[in-house]
Amino acid sequence: MRSLVVLAALVAGTATAVAADFQPPTTLPEGPFGEMIAKGEAIFTETKANAGPYVGNELSCRNCHLDRGRLANSAPMWAAFGLYPQYRAKNKSVNTFTHRIQDCFRFSMNGKKPEADSEVMVALQSYIFWLATGAPVGAKLPGQGYKLLPKPAEAPSPERGATVFAANCALCHGADGQGTKRAGGGYQFPPLWGPNSYNWGAGMHRVNTAAGFIKANMPFGRGGTLSDQEAWDVAAYVNSRPRPQDPRFTGDVADTRAKFHNDDDYYGVTLDGKVIGAEK
Ligand code: HEC
Ligand code: HEC
Repeated sequence: MRSLVVLAALVAGTATAVAADFQPPTTLPEGPFGEMIAKGEAIFTETKANAGPYVGNELSCRNCHLDRGRLANSAPMWAAFGLYPQYRAKNKSVNTFTHRIQDCFRFSMNGKKPEADSEVMVALQSYIFWLATGAPVGAKLPGQGYKLLPKPAEAPSPERGATVFAANCALCHGADGQGTKRAGGGYQFPPLWGPNSYNWGAGMHRVNTAAGFIKANMPFGRGGTLSDQEAWDVAAYVNSRPRPQDPRFTGDVADTRAKFHNDDDYYGVTLDGKVIGAEK
């Protein structure tokens, strides 16, 4: 009996060690599965170029799921795969993994849901299924999701955030946040607001989610250099700028806010005499 307990503890200890060090594979399998994975990786990396009909902006999955969905604490795909089906408060139902990906198309990509049996969906799922090779199923792994920051000392201020933005972000994302295009097409630095960015229903529009993402990863290559207060302030600035309408829009911003939003975001809030989210 006693040795069984010890054995169980050992096994549990091993499982934790494996999970903390989880490394997605790097060598593609041969054959049709490998080809499908490569298609999925291309969609994940250059989404508009490879899944155009479903994309309504100029973002790619990897702009928010960094290192092509591999980076811990940047909602890595290997940690997501085994957590579905899962109940989500956002749509008050049990979501399959297909449904979860469709939601990032609808909101983060401001686009349309790829059908469950479309090649885009099969390719993306093949890529993600492969990244999760050997990851435990049904367990929340270290590194899953985005790291949230503690609430700042002072309430986040878009006004202070504008100063942080000009000093630390404008160089890449543009003074007007509209991103910077590559010479050969597509974006080198993705748009943070405006018609080509994520819409008012996307997870990144929440100030807490953006603050955590920005603190860990931005300025790109120099994550962790902003103070927590600066990260919250610049997240408040970015997420109080205009962006595409929430696809759940009921015809009225206040009503849409009451139904689908909470206090972590600026949708429907009046700032400088304007109702945010009502602009065209
Ligand atoms: C604008 C940023 C952004 C873009 C672009 C984006 N996502 Fe996401 N994604 C998020 C956020 C934010 C979450 C929510 C993470 C959380 O639970 O806090 C998320 C969550 C997910 C999850 C669930 C993660 C988990 O741990 O449960 C999957 C799967 C996913 N995204 C896939 C995709 C795919 C595939 C694409 C491209 C078609 C994409 N995302 C594009 C921001 C983005
Ligand atoms: C050195 C260039 C650079 C700087 C400076 C920089 N970023 Fe980024 N940012 C990037 C790149 C590149 C990506 C996409 C990463 C990828 O695709 O691998 C990105 C992605 C993002 C995203 C998610 C995608 C999107 O378009 O919404 C946000 C939000 C963001 N940056 C905010 C900021 C903020 C806020 C600052 C200033 C504190 C900042 N960035 C500074 C290069 C930069």
